[in-house]
Amino acid sequence: MSMVDQTRQGQILVLTINNPPVNAFSPGVPEGLHAGLDVAEQDSGVKAVVIIGGGRTFIAGADIKTFDLPREQAPNLRGFVARLDAFGKPTVAAIHGTALGGGLELAMACTYRVADKGAQLGLPEVKLGVLPGAGGTQRLPRVVGAQKALEMMLSGNPIKASEALQLGLVDELAEGDLLSAAVKFASDHADARPLPRISERSAQGSPEVFAAAREGIKKTHKGQLSPSFIVDLAEMATNQSFEAGWDAEARLFVQAKDSPQSRGLRHIFFAEREAGKIPGLTKDTPTTEIKSAGVIGAGTMGGGIAMNFLNVGLPVTIVETSQEALDRGLSVIRRNYENTAKKGRMTQDDVEKRLALLTPTLEMEGLKDADIIIEAVFENMDVKKDIFGKLDQIAKPGAILASNTSTLDVNEIASVTKRPESVIGLHFFSPANVMKLLEIVRADNTSDTVLATSMALARKIKKVGVVVGVCDGFVGNRMIHHYGEEARKLVEEGARPQDVDAAMHALGLPMGPFEMSDMAGLDVGYLIRQHQAKVAGKPKPDGWLDQIVEQGRKGQKTQAGIYDYPDGRKPVPSPATDELLSRYRAEKNLSRREISPEELTKRLTYSLVNEGAQILDEGIAQRAGDIDVIYIYGYGFPAYRGGPMQYADEQGLGNVVADLEKYGQPPAPLLRKLAEEGKTFAQWDREKGRA
Ligand code: 3HC
Repeated sequence: MSMVDQTRQGQILVLTINNPPVNAFSPGVPEGLHAGLDVAEQDSGVKAVVIIGGGRTFIAGADIKTFDLPREQAPNLRGFVARLDAFGKPTVAAIHGTALGGGLELAMACTYRVADKGAQLGLPEVKLGVLPGAGGTQRLPRVVGAQKALEMMLSGNPIKASEALQLGLVDELAEGDLLSAAVKFASDHADARPLPRISERSAQGSPEVFAAAREGIKKTHKGQLSPSFIVDLAEMATNQSFEAGWDAEARLFVQAKDSPQSRGLRHIFFAEREAGKIPGLTKDTPTTEIKSAGVIGAGTMGGGIAMNFLNVGLPVTIVETSQEALDRGLSVIRRNYENTAKKGRMTQDDVEKRLALLTPTLEMEGLKDADIIIEAVFENMDVKKDIFGKLDQIAKPGAILASNTSTLDVNEIASVTKRPESVIGLHFFSPANVMKLLEIVRADNTSDTVLATSMALARKIKKVGVVVGVCDGFVGNRMIHHYGEEARKLVEEGARPQDVDAAMHALGLPMGPFEMSDMAGLDVGYLIRQHQAKVAGKPKPDGWLDQIVEQGRKGQKTQAGIYDYPDGRKPVPSPATDELLSRYRAEKNLSRREISPEELTKRLTYSLVNEGAQILDEGIAQRAGDIDVIYIYGYGFPAYRGGPMQYADEQGLGNVVADLEKYGQPPAPLLRKLAEEGKTFAQWDREKGRA
């Protein structure tokens, strides 16, 4: 079947694009569309052309997979758009589903646009580190004005068809069948001359609009390239010819597309979708329907987890051991919702509706009807085993029994039940109602159904689920442990904590390792270190971080940790820490040296990469892309860097290995092997790790 079907409806030629699933502008599509326009040009019986998408959507954009092809092999969207703009007969875009990026650009080069009521239209290119590259930056401001165009192009978020109608971006909303409405519209406008062309209009926009946009992107898109190109081009739409803007757009598009930022964002686009695919699990793997949930523990994690379910209308039973803890947990949930309502992001009515779905209880028996039960009590194996033993007695057959453990062995937890196939780890990240990541820990006996249901549940509660294997810390925390260790060493060698954190800010992370530790609470790591040393019969740990905790400085919660927190939240370098470090270095005879920002960034980032490679080798993560998704959604790694593994690919794995050796971190065997073979993690994913 051709990628573009031609059919005649009287004097109207209908071109239907068939490139499932989203009718991206892939190789074959422009050829088919050009052939259609050839017919329309040559056949005097054709008065107008309708372009429509077959299947679920209009064109969802350029084919992102072709971005790295040599120019001559990539489908020429601009060429087709230019032909449409100059075409001598009326053309009508019939839009349903999502007209995104190049799809909307193509539609804007048509003479008219008719949309289904449920359609959405947008220019999301900024999310891929590029800009609308087929006339979008020049046409959209000419239709909706520079301000609205900037809002759409900088957020990347689509608008609904009804709004598009109001803005004049579409000419008509179809009543009933879209194709019939578009064909009728085309017939009614077949003789309209001169043909209205958006490229011939002028665009409105004041200097203040562009100044505000330039200020805005410093906060919303700090460190990114394409948003400032978008603002420059939108401004050109208001004060230069269409041709000048169109040419500049082509140049800047290529510059943005060929940047590491765009490669990083595109990598994450595909990695996120790939993460949903689990080797061995097909689309037909049966899932169970989750109609209600149970949560054990109403602390920070339990409360946040419960909110995820309430937010999508699922009833939750929440269990605590004392009325006081239960009341406290409930009041935190209420306060969270009320704060959201105060910001105008939900109504008080919604607050009450969500809370009405919540059943607090002191009885585990209350969980007997839940389809999924998530245990979120503190990290202690004996306590968890006790709970799972009880759950085994109480939960209905087929219920999923999940632990929110962040470190413990899910196999051991499962071993106390008679149904290990129902047990899984669901590791939420704090604040659990906000962070998008869900590590889904597949234990040895977890059934395919439980795994597939958990993946589907992640999507339902709007999380990005990534499947990981059982090990201490799973993927995210196991890697962060090494990162924290490296940060600690860097300070011992002479760096100031604020310099270490600044090195990660420079990479685009909102927090460095020490700000993160202060926020999480320094006592957590302290207690683990003390416990591990005791169990191993080793002397009591006495590092500089231990000494800080022993001064009662536990982090943000005590308003003092590695940093001081005079206003409760904002970290300020601490003279007390400086003093402690000077004394510590003197006591331990540590010499101090200047460490460059470059060394700081490399050592910290590569400590993540090195452990990531080890995790891949052990099969704890299925793909390097999964690790990147974990770091973007769970740890604030900037998406435009593509995650730590993609960042390493960009640096060249040979360089990463050489640097690790230089800095005394032994490279993981897989990393060394890939470097020797001149390969990347992305190649490893393609060759070995993918489903
Ligand atoms: N190019 C190539 N593949 C694409 C694609 C695109 N533009 N858009 C989606 N796909 C693929 C996905 O990778 C996925 O593949 P898979 O099944 O092998 O994993 C499949 O299509 C289905 O996508 P989703 O799983 O995301 O399906 P949803 O129904 O959840 O969402 C969507 C559909 C809203 C269209 C979403 O896919 C999306 O947002 N796509 C990206 C749209 C976009 O960014 N367009 C602009 C492209 S850049 C451009 O046009 C440049 C131009 O200005 C020159």
